[in-house]
Amino acid sequence: MANQKTRLAAFCSGTGSNFQSLYNAINARDLPAEFALCLSNRSECGAISFAKQHGIPTLHLSEKQYDTHEQFAAAMLKALKEHDIEYILLAGYLKMVPEKVVTAYTCKILNIHPALLPKFGGPGMYGINVHKAVLESGEKKSGATVHYVDPEYDKGPVLLQRNVPVEPGDTPESLAARVLKCEHQLYPDALEILLTGKDT
Ligand code: GRF
Repeated sequence: MANQKTRLAAFCSGTGSNFQSLYNAINARDLPAEFALCLSNRSECGAISFAKQHGIPTLHLSEKQYDTHEQFAAAMLKALKEHDIEYILLAGYLKMVPEKVVTAYTCKILNIHPALLPKFGGPGMYGINVHKAVLESGEKKSGATVHYVDPEYDKGPVLLQRNVPVEPGDTPESLAARVLKCEHQLYPDALEILLTGKDT
């Protein structure tokens, strides 16, 4: 059908500031998409509150609710199907997406990582750990990366990447704040490229 909006799911575990920036950018830039689901492994978090406030359906889905990983993966796929989701945007989702879901959504899942992948990615590289590692390495720049998700952690093809400087006297927290600000611009830019092919 013409003018149909692309249905997106946000997967979040925390504040959801990236989810919020994506939501706001869809409105501000008039992008042909809408969030049709916010899924979280936590029953309550900033992202879930934001979704509820904005009338976006929410789902608390945790592996702990199921006896087996297969049941969990099947429940996730069922929910995505029920909500007719086309793309999944990971926004601070601290769990691995089951391989069955990654396979079903090949090239249709994006993640944002708070560093310049392939550096400073992989198991253990999340949250403040990333920024500590960047500072310890003596790198002069950091940044953010939006990449497609494949079964290997933080290894999928890069869609968009942007640098920020590492400043003298930076702490992991000050660097994290600078990178997060960059993320809030980068993820909407990547979504726009995904939806419209437009190079922002
Ligand atoms: C961001 O730094 C993102 O890169 C990482 O987790 C953080 C999530 O922050 N994957 P928020 O929940 O979007 O505020």
